[in-house]
Order: sequence, then C-alpha cells, then structure tokens
Amino acid sequence: MCGIFAYLNYLVEKDRGYIIDTLTNGLKRLEYRGYDSAGLAIDGDNNDILIYRQVGKVKALEQLIKEDTQLDLTKTFLSHTGMAHTRWATHGQPSQRNSHPQRSDPNNEFLVVHNGIITNFKEIKTVLEKKGYQFESDTDTECIAKLTKYIYDSQKANKQLNFTNLIKAVVKELEGAFALIFKSTHFPNEVVAARRGSPLLVGVKTEKKLKVDFVDVEFGNGEAIPDESKMSANDVPKMHRSQSRAFLSEDGMPQPIEFFLASDPSAVIEHTKRVLYLEDDDIAHICEGELHIHRLRREDGMSSVRFIQTLELELAEIMKGQYDHFMQKEIFEQPESVVNTMRGRINFDTHKVTLGGLKAYLATIRRCRRIVFCACGTSYHSAIATRAIFEELTEIPVSVELASDFLDRRTPIFRDDVCVFISQSGETADTILALRYCLERGALCVGITNTVGSTISRETHCGVHINAGPEVGVASTKAYTSQYISLIMMAIQLSEDRISMTERRNAIIDGLHELPRHIKEVLKLDAQLQSLAKDVLFKEKSLLIMGRGYQHATCLEGALKIKEISYMHSEGILAGELKHGPLALIDENMPVIIIMTKDSYYPKVQSALQQVTARKGQPIVICNEGDTSLSKYRNIAVPQTVDCLQGLLTIIPLQLLSYHLAVFHGVDVDFPRNLAKSVTVE
Ligand code: F6R
Repeated sequence: MCGIFAYLNYLVEKDRGYIIDTLTNGLKRLEYRGYDSAGLAIDGDNNDILIYRQVGKVKALEQLIKEDTQLDLTKTFLSHTGMAHTRWATHGQPSQRNSHPQRSDPNNEFLVVHNGIITNFKEIKTVLEKKGYQFESDTDTECIAKLTKYIYDSQKANKQLNFTNLIKAVVKELEGAFALIFKSTHFPNEVVAARRGSPLLVGVKTEKKLKVDFVDVEFGNGEAIPDESKMSANDVPKMHRSQSRAFLSEDGMPQPIEFFLASDPSAVIEHTKRVLYLEDDDIAHICEGELHIHRLRREDGMSSVRFIQTLELELAEIMKGQYDHFMQKEIFEQPESVVNTMRGRINFDTHKVTLGGLKAYLATIRRCRRIVFCACGTSYHSAIATRAIFEELTEIPVSVELASDFLDRRTPIFRDDVCVFISQSGETADTILALRYCLERGALCVGITNTVGSTISRETHCGVHINAGPEVGVASTKAYTSQYISLIMMAIQLSEDRISMTERRNAIIDGLHELPRHIKEVLKLDAQLQSLAKDVLFKEKSLLIMGRGYQHATCLEGALKIKEISYMHSEGILAGELKHGPLALIDENMPVIIIMTKDSYYPKVQSALQQVTARKGQPIVICNEGDTSLSKYRNIAVPQTVDCLQGLLTIIPLQLLSYHLAVFHGVDVDFPRNLAKSVTVE
C-alpha cells in the first residue's frame, strides 16, 4: 500500500511554499492508500536535503512544517526535485522513525520513498549490518537507502556510475514488490524511480505541446554498472543523457517543464492529464527537463516505447463536493455510476449487450470448460452475487475464488479455463499474483477493473472497464454495483447465442434500464437508515445479516461494510446455514437483519425468519415495497426488480446504514483504521 509522489520543476521558477503545497496536496489525493504517517523531502539552502516526517495524516505533516519557523517558504528554485510519501504500515508500527523518506545516513546522501514490500530485506540488512551500517527504523525500506549508499561508496571511482545505473544495481538486489523514488545529494535535481509489482506513473506538464507522444526505452547492455575496463567503443551503453525527443521544444532545446510521479492518476490530475505508465522493471530517470526510461535487463519482446496518454479523469470527480465524505458521495453517485457502466454497451431497444473489450474472445470463452472468478473483499462479493445468473445464462460452471486462498491452494488451472479477475483498483497484490499464476498456466485471463492503465487491466488478455469513476472512500460502494452489472452484462453477451434464454435476458436488460430510477428510490431511505443507526443499532456490539440465494452476497458485503467502517462486529450468514450453528447466537438481544425479497427463495427465508422469532429475536427486514406480510417487523422496503438484480438495490440500505453507524461512532469514514484502499501487498 502507501502512496508515493514526486514533483520536479525545470526552468519553471517556484517558491518553496508552492513546492511543499504541491507535494502535500499530491499526498492528500493518495491518502486513501494509507494514512499511518506522511513525510517529504525537499532541497535545503546549502546543497542539503530537508526531511519532514510525521505520524498521522498529511494534515499533521503540514502542521509540522508550519512549526519550522526557520524554513524560508519564499525561497525560489528554477529547478527542484521534491518527493513525498503517505504510509500504510507493514514493517514497523506507525512512528516518525518508520515514516518515509528513509535515509542512507545522517547526511541524507540517498533518500527513498517506497510502496510495496521487500521480501529479502532481512538478508540485505544482515549483510549491511556486518559492514557497519546502523539501522534506525523497523522498515524494510531503510535497507534500500543503505544499500544504495553501500553500492555508491564501493563504485564511486567508476566514471560510468550515474544515478540510473546505481539504482539499477540496487533494484537488481531487491525481491518483492515495489514502486520507489530516489533523491540524492550526489545527484541534485535528479530523480530516479523504479517499479516492480506496485503502480507508478509519470505526469508531464508543459506550456507547449510535446513533440512526440511517446518516450523511447533505452535498453543499454543490461549491465547495472558497466566495468569501464572491459568496454569497447561499440558497446558503450547510453550512460550519459541522450536527448529524449518528447520533451524538446521546436528548436531542439529543453523546454520549461514539470514532472509528477505518483502511485495513481488522482494525484496528478489537477496539474496535467498527460501521463505515462511505467512497466515492471522500468527505471525512470528525470533530469534537466527530460524523462529517460531504462530497462533493468535486456529482454526480447519488450515494447521499446512508453506512450504518453491523456487521462479522461476530471478533477471534480475526485472532489467531495456537497458531501461530508467520499463514501457518502460515492453511495449517492450510484444512479449515475451504473449508467456509466452500461453506457454504449446496452441497447435497451434491441436488448443487445456489446462489450467491446471481450468481442474478440467471445468464442473462446464460450468454448471453455469452466470460468473462475477470482478477487478479494468487495470485488469477491460481486462475483458471489452474479455467479448464479452467470451459470444460468451461460451454462458454464463458475467457481468463485478468494485470490489469497486460490494461491495458497495452488488451484489447478488449465489452458481451457477462463479466469476473470475482478478488482476496483486493478492493483491488489493477491489478485495480480493469481492473475500471473493463471497466465503461466495458459488460461485466458479477463480483467474487470475500474482503473484504466492498472496492472490488472494491462496484464489480462481482455476485459471490461467498469467505468464507475474514481472511488476514493476506502469502503467500496459504487464499484461493487458497477462490478455486479459488468459481470451480468458479460453473462448476457456470452449467452446471446442461446435462444432459450432470450426472454430471461430481455427481462434482465429491462431491469437494468429501470435500475437508475430504482436506486434513486432506495437512496430516499437515507433518513430512515440514519435513525435505524442512531435509535436501534448504534450501541450494539454485533449485528447478524441473513439471506440466501441472490441475497447471500448482499449479507456478506453489508457485513463487511459495517465492520470496516463502524468497527462494529457484523457477520453475513447464509440463511440455510442458520440451523447449523449461528442460531445459537439468537436471543432477544441479538440484532438481526433478514433480507427477504420476493424471489424463489422467499419461502425458505421465511422459515429462517420464523427460527429467529421463535427464539425471541426481533429481526429488521429488508423486503420489497408492498410486502404487507412483513409490516409487523421494522422494515426497509426497496422496489422489486428482477431476482438477479435485486442485490443491486438491497445493498444500498446496508451501505447507508454502515455509513451512518460510522458517523455516529465518530470514525473517520473515508479513512478507517488499519485499512487502505489499494492493497498492494500480499
Ligand atoms: C471493502 C474493500 C476491499 C476491497 C479489496 C479488493 O470495502 O474495498 O475489501 O474490495 O481490498 O480491492 P480491489 O477491488 O481494488 O482489488
């Protein structure tokens, strides 16, 4: 997890105050990735580097900087490099000394910010400790900074040693997942960044248009630090700066330019829409207004350019607007976000679904022997929610896997399997590892993601972008409903050759047409859910949520929402399992929500309701409007829709309930403790 950010201005004069604001604002956009501590590094007044680090959110870091009355915020820099970090603690508890940037030594010769985990850090640390290095933190990251100094000190006589090949040599020693940014007093106004397994992009801002919209990859000879004595004139790699075409002005001279490095586009969007995504094992070097991309090693088949793309994201989409929290905004955005998921893909007149991203692969998918849905958390629940309709429409067996467990079991996967990876961020480590596992075994891999350019969307063979818009709140809400719809659209398209299913498909498509209106109706229940939270549930310790069939996923997802943001224990229970254990929990004091919508499972859920009431339980019922048989219970009535779509409506009251419970508990709704939006570690 963690968010990393850097800002470089070249021939664009900026004062220190502006630079610090740019760094801290970048961090604020990345805060959803972790908010245990924050830190930044900027240039000092005497060719030195200043570091500020503080436990807590970015606001606390800003306060720390404000308190430094010696710091001249008006000092201007024509060129400057600054970098910053917001942390989700993995190694070492949240504390100042475990915050980033981590340093090589007290003179700050080499500084690094890191998102990911270095799995061989103990080995590196042991070697360096034997060489006399003293470690100051419990982080895995510190070994990177110290290793950099160690390699630098042992190689500095070599004239071929520059910042890029120094970092190449460092990265070659690292195992695990990382996105890294380095800054050094030995290489002022330069930054080197590297990634493997964790996301990293470069934003570019210039007055003039870029000359070309790509950057050439410089392959070099694969040596980290070439031995001068063994090099012939012909195999001298590009050790020195060559001109990178994209960043030159018309007259071939470097132009004023600003660069932003960030874990995701939301941190750069207010500055520029032009971004370039780094690939695994890319080493990016920014110096004197140019970006150069090198490879860690020579490989065949690797693309020799990285394209500068234009983001479609708008700043307004990542602002809270009239809402108190991003989560609240995202819940209320669902009437629009579901439309965006369906836009251009469903023709409601002809009842036809066309998912462009799958078109070329439909025949292969239809021929497969099984479909495996693989995901984590909320994304996993969207797979549970749609599995039944997927199997019904396509007649292909579907298994649903939690990515971590799927990997633990080393589940057998074959060439004629189709594996579908569902991930809002597209960067969840467990899901990415499961994807790579399936790619190695020759399965067709499909991505369902919300993040264009994410690792999962890039590494899958084909996929569907759910188009829910940026989801900032740590608790996933609108991504769930959009993933759900995307999977249903996929099932509909796959089954379009099955005439016997026409009526069923048409009914679902009509249901989807009505969905935005139905969601608006459900959102009107907000005040009712607020009072349910305040008057009935707020003081309770635990809450059981029961249902079956299509509503099982709603129970699991509703319980996850409640526990993750209100810290109240909650459990989603398959109503059919009640008598196999959970019934023992029921008495007049145990709060229970039962989801009882009018579908074929209704009679069976009714018996679960009776089992609860027979034990003096007082259930709250989520039911369909007009179901008078349930009016004697405290109930939350949602419009009735097609059975397999009903979960899109029943989840919303639970999203709202969890939101209000969290607010009443005084939880920082968008930043629940110990969690992060994008889980880029195993
Ligand atoms: C819960 C939540 C998490 C994520 C999970 C997977 O509200 O957000 O459970 O669903 O970490 O994340 P993605 O979908 O980004 O792979």
